[in-house]
Amino acid sequence: MSTLTASAEPGFEDRYTLPAIEAVPDTAEEIRRKQERVRALCAERKAVLLAHHYQRAEVQEVADAVADSLKLSQAAAKTDADVIVFCGVHFMAETASILCPEKTVLLPDLRAGCSLSASVTADELRRWKEKLPDAVVVSYINTSAEVKAESDYCCTSANAAKVVAAIPAERTILFVPDKFLAAVVARQTRRSNIIGYPGYCHVHKSIQPEQVVALMDQHPDIELLLHPECGCVSSCMAKAMDGTLPAERTFFLSTEGMLRHIGESAAMEFALGTETGILHQLTKKFPERTFYPVNPNAVCAFMKTITLDRVIRSLETMTPEVRVPEAIAQKAKRAIDRMLELA
Ligand code: 13P
Ligand code: SF4
Repeated sequence: MSTLTASAEPGFEDRYTLPAIEAVPDTAEEIRRKQERVRALCAERKAVLLAHHYQRAEVQEVADAVADSLKLSQAAAKTDADVIVFCGVHFMAETASILCPEKTVLLPDLRAGCSLSASVTADELRRWKEKLPDAVVVSYINTSAEVKAESDYCCTSANAAKVVAAIPAERTILFVPDKFLAAVVARQTRRSNIIGYPGYCHVHKSIQPEQVVALMDQHPDIELLLHPECGCVSSCMAKAMDGTLPAERTFFLSTEGMLRHIGESAAMEFALGTETGILHQLTKKFPERTFYPVNPNAVCAFMKTITLDRVIRSLETMTPEVRVPEAIAQKAKRAIDRMLELA
């Protein structure tokens, strides 16, 4: 299946600045003391600490839950804590705030943005909708609250196909903003009426087909797990069909889907096409297996802004807080709730 593509809005890369990735030279003992301080502050503030798989290892280790964006939003929706410390990026903290408007949601560093989320603005989406007024808008969770407010459904990489499959087959779908995920979903749902917005994540885009083929050549029995945001997905889907890649050992999965898949697989070696932060949970949970990142330089500078020091400062000062204006939150919540009902 192929996707149609909307015309590109030029220069969205100018909308964000990549933060420098700070080296944290803490000793094991300093890390342990800082983690103790984080836990003490969480208890004092009645806070829950949620961390994404791409966070720094020492931040993942101190979290109450480490998961993908779907499971983190589900955890936020059901927590009884007063405060949510979101160790992830801004759209994730916004989603938590939309689901729990009565709670304080902290994002320890406001530089934690997302290039994919920056690819589409609410104005651009409104202009796009005007051209196709009968289409259903499905927005990836990696979007701003304003974009979600303009959308009919939200989805994550874990449930995008499920959400799209729930929409009547004859309805055209505007899928924002990830063109690579749109292509994977079109193939999984066998739909030819998905119009993908031309956005992308700069980290996953850097995961290229040549890197995949080189790794698969070096390790012939390996299983290939690719995040559907990767720049190589269309090419890898074609290669799996023409036999250049082994179709039975090529999978398109969310970060949580990768963990689940490895737990159920008999394979011992895996090629991973995603941000390298996931290697922390994988090597911890499956010490006997071997993991090879397709691109070892696929590191998200936005995710790495969150350090233990910033988590401590955030809990001490109860800043920076992320709160979505009520009118936008109410509209965005419809799209998120529809996803959570289907998830
Ligand atoms: P997951 O939903 O698979 O965790 O990926 C989302 C993402 O790209 C976070 O940056
Ligand atoms: Fe956004 Fe990509 Fe970073 Fe995920 S890895 S937060 S999609 S920039």
